[in-house]
Amino acid sequence: MSIHILPTSVVNKIAAGEVIERPASVVKELVENALDAGARRIEIQLGNGGADLIRVVDDGCGMDADDLALALVGHATSKLTSEDDLFDVRTMGFRGEALASIGSVSDVRIVSRTADSDAGHEVEMQAGVQGEVRACGAPPGAQVEVRNLFHNVPVRKKFLKSAATEMAHISEAVTRLALAHPQVHFVLTHNERKVFNLPPADGLAQRIGEFFGREIADNMVPFGSQSPEVDVEVHLRERPLRAQPRADARHRRGLRRADDGGAPAGLLRVPHA
Ligand SMILES: Nc1ncnc2c1ncn2[C@@H]1O[C@H](COP(=O)(O)OP(=O)(O)OP(=O)(O)O)[C@@H](O)[C@H]1O
Ligand SMILES: [Mg+2]
Repeated sequence: MSIHILPTSVVNKIAAGEVIERPASVVKELVENALDAGARRIEIQLGNGGADLIRVVDDGCGMDADDLALALVGHATSKLTSEDDLFDVRTMGFRGEALASIGSVSDVRIVSRTADSDAGHEVEMQAGVQGEVRACGAPPGAQVEVRNLFHNVPVRKKFLKSAATEMAHISEAVTRLALAHPQVHFVLTHNERKVFNLPPADGLAQRIGEFFGREIADNMVPFGSQSPEVDVEVHLRERPLRAQPRADARHRRGLRRADDGGAPAGLLRVPHA
């Protein structure tokens, strides 16, 4: 037995096996990147439960040509520069692994423009092989498009469930992120049909209403502490609900509920930074 170092493509694929389990994992990583980029509006477009297409469009800080050349490279991040930064992480991502992992198990195209540049750029990666960065027209922000997820990982592809099941996982992931960031506008579409459109809300209570309906929101009691050190918000359900408003809320949004037993019993918001 002789020891050798694995090629980067294999390392990235192993990392992808751990990070990217199903389409919802890709959606979560891309939306977290958009939030880290300071986006105010995030649109998630899906095709066939995410198996054919996952496109996340944001209006965040964007990337220039140099950033785009590195975005898909493993351990490339703008969020940490030294060991000391590890003790003061203020972003959702910092490992510099997500895009490299996604790019090793799908076909990815990123189009982006920073606010101070007049031109955008694009870069593609197909099954781990990265192309050149090219100039192209683009609005400020970033658009990351993931197609043919797991086309080169037959085991994962085989275990993908129906579009409806994968959509339920995606809805769950987006619901969590949207509840944690009420001030951000979220739009989710599946096969070009709108699943939900959540305009910026004025706080968590309002977003709970957007997701679960007024009746449920009115039934939640907020508790909070907003000292500079601790800014935590907890909303607890005051009393049991009749089945009807729960079902109404679910159907209105086409969403899976936050928990399996019924409408949310409690929600906790702990701000990230
Ligand atoms: N939507 C985006 N807008 C602006 N920059 C982005 C966007 N998505 C990714 N980037 C840039 O690409 C880098 C790599 O992203 P990636 O998700 O792979 O790593 P990360 O977010 O730094 O860490 P993690 O692997 O923990 O998510 C980011 O650090 C960021 O600089
Ligand atoms: Mg990330």
